[in-house]
Amino acid sequence: MKLIFVTGKGGVGKTTFASAYALDQASKGKKVLLVEFGPKSHLKYIFSLGKNKEINYKRIKAPKNLEVQMWNFEEVLVEFITYYLKVKTLVKKFFSSPIMQKLIKVAPSLRELVYLGKATSGYRNIGKDMDYDSIVVDSYSTGHFLALMRSPVGMMEAVKRGAMHVQCKTILEVLKNPKQVEYFVVSLAEKLPIVETKEFVDILKKEFSISPKIVLNKVKQELDGKVDQACAFQKSYSKNTVNQKKNINKIKNYNTELVMPFVFKHDSTQIVKEMNDHLGDL
Ligand SMILES: Nc1ncnc2c1ncn2[C@@H]1O[C@H](COP(=O)(O)OP(=O)(O)O)[C@@H](O)[C@H]1O
Ligand SMILES: [Mg+2]
Repeated sequence: MKLIFVTGKGGVGKTTFASAYALDQASKGKKVLLVEFGPKSHLKYIFSLGKNKEINYKRIKAPKNLEVQMWNFEEVLVEFITYYLKVKTLVKKFFSSPIMQKLIKVAPSLRELVYLGKATSGYRNIGKDMDYDSIVVDSYSTGHFLALMRSPVGMMEAVKRGAMHVQCKTILEVLKNPKQVEYFVVSLAEKLPIVETKEFVDILKKEFSISPKIVLNKVKQELDGKVDQACAFQKSYSKNTVNQKKNINKIKNYNTELVMPFVFKHDSTQIVKEMNDHLGDL
């Protein structure tokens, strides 16, 4: 099993890449779960699921070996509590105690923790069966993603011992294990996004010792032949490709094997399909 998190700034192509990656894995015969965090579904626009079919906490069969699911806080939390009620009375008391009730309402990043708890539950042998070869999480954008990663750390500091502490510790161990979890940071190949991506990846490395793969997205292919200087579009397009090349060069010491072309289409399903062809042997 492999857990895959996709992050990156807003609008760079996280959902597109996560979908392409999930489809790619599924087409190779793997059993794949593609997850998005609620409350709004973006995946429903990519996977044609019919007008009346919403993606929600019920797993939906998409093409081939792929299932798509949207997680939301309340449902995942209830699932966890129910799981514990069955096995440990001690934890039952813990969850139903007034302190825990308060915590649920006020604890910062409890939502994040609950999502991470579920995402890593297969490795930790707890909770509902997560029998997949790959779980692909179309995750939060960079700032919020750091809050997600930091949530078990914060909770361990707040709750120094007991079930909660142990859970957070094991979650963190899974997150830091490259054999179990892989990270993709999607980035545009423009100047500022490249600087920001490097900063973001440096933080992930420093705080969690993880080395994500960078997906350079919307990279424009160079024009063949000579640029017609009288054509404004050709001129600006070609200038853009030159700049993108320069910017990509600045990030070459990071894991940047994955370069996704700019797809000149407006249909997101089509864009995902085309991106799929460029994934190679992931
Ligand atoms: N390689 C690409 N070429 C062209 N358009 C793309 C590409 N990747 C993503 N897009 C488009 O860019 C927009 C944002 O992508 P999306 O995956 O929703 O970003 P995010 O999930 O990071 O917010 C969407 O309209 C998507 O179809
Ligand atoms: Mg998205």
